[in-house]
Amino acid sequence: MADVAFRGVEKSFGNVTVIHGVDIDIADGELVVFVGPSGCGKSTLLRMLAGLEENTGGEIAIGDDVVSGLPPKDRDIAMVFQNYALYPHMTVAENIGFPLRMQGMSAAERRERVVEAAGLLGLETYLERYPRELSGGQRQRVAVGRAIVRKPRAFLFDEPLSNLDAALRVQMRKEVKLLHRRLGATMIFVTHDQVEAMTLADRIVVLRAGRVEQIGTPDDIYRRPANSFVAGFIGSPPINLIAGTVEPRSGSAVLVPEEDPALAFPLPPQFDLAPGSRITLGIRPENLLLVPATAGSGLEGKVVFCENSGQESAVTLELGGLQLVASLWGDEPPVIGGRARLEIDPARMLLFDDADMRLEPARET
Ligand SMILES: Nc1ncnc2c1ncn2[C@@H]1O[C@H](COP(=O)(O)OP(=O)(O)O)[C@@H](O)[C@H]1O
Ligand SMILES: [Mg+2]
Repeated sequence: MADVAFRGVEKSFGNVTVIHGVDIDIADGELVVFVGPSGCGKSTLLRMLAGLEENTGGEIAIGDDVVSGLPPKDRDIAMVFQNYALYPHMTVAENIGFPLRMQGMSAAERRERVVEAAGLLGLETYLERYPRELSGGQRQRVAVGRAIVRKPRAFLFDEPLSNLDAALRVQMRKEVKLLHRRLGATMIFVTHDQVEAMTLADRIVVLRAGRVEQIGTPDDIYRRPANSFVAGFIGSPPINLIAGTVEPRSGSAVLVPEEDPALAFPLPPQFDLAPGSRITLGIRPENLLLVPATAGSGLEGKVVFCENSGQESAVTLELGGLQLVASLWGDEPPVIGGRARLEIDPARMLLFDDADMRLEPARET
């Protein structure tokens, strides 16, 4: 196993630059997830690490070796793709053992390694089957088996679960996590799915348009997002973002939203906010408390939409010219068209400055 480093890595296709100087340090044995919208460069970063594409700037290191220029076979890493591409005419055992056969390993030694890998993945009883005789999840497991059998220095996964149905995806997610724990291997897992990123990762790298937006633990990314893009990308239903201007009101600061200057959101006192400055207020749906219209507190609005998933309802409330989404747990959802009030816990507000950087409180409450 080995650590992996991207240092100032750039990639251009012709005269189009798609990766703009990316720095990422991955520790030996770490499970890091690259997440970001489609087209942000996740696959390109993995493919450059694997040697399937050359970086056009910067350098990539695996352990102590700068690998730029080395062919894939000399990089000693394994990659699992979304389309697991098993050989249909080979059994599970032959598929898993294929990379070892390419290395010229003896049949006896190969068998031992294949059985070991199959054991880790619960495939022992399927070794003589053909891919067509397997379910989607089992096939994906064979593809993983083919990757782990070589004992590479790092594993790369490019959206390997995207083709599986929802229930299987959740199960395979767990298996990847357990496998990581068992092998203690360096793993990089790419996904556009923020839930997959949050649940799998030791650390998450959030990417946008070929740049790193933030690197941190799932908790960092969720609670201390670097900017409103990260805040908006991670979390479901997504965070409410309200752009506006800071104004003084009877001794404290409020946010007057651009979209409806008749509204005013009291801002937390522990921030130093200059009157007139433009900020964006972020409030996650779970930090908006929906209370009956008859309650004396909070901001009153109209219920315009409700998405009920059983355990949780995402309730959209219209407050003047704004729409805010609140999560409701356990309670029966409100009637559409009815009135309700929102209470906002100022301690849970996220504030982003004019340059879209998250503001740190200047003092304790
Ligand atoms: N071989 C290629 N030639 C030209 N452009 C490419 C090539 N591969 C990827 N790109 C472009 O690079 C950007 C990043 O792509 P990709 O790494 O596949 O994104 P992701 O995996 O995050 O969806 C996209 O704009 C894509 O169109
Ligand atoms: Mg991709």
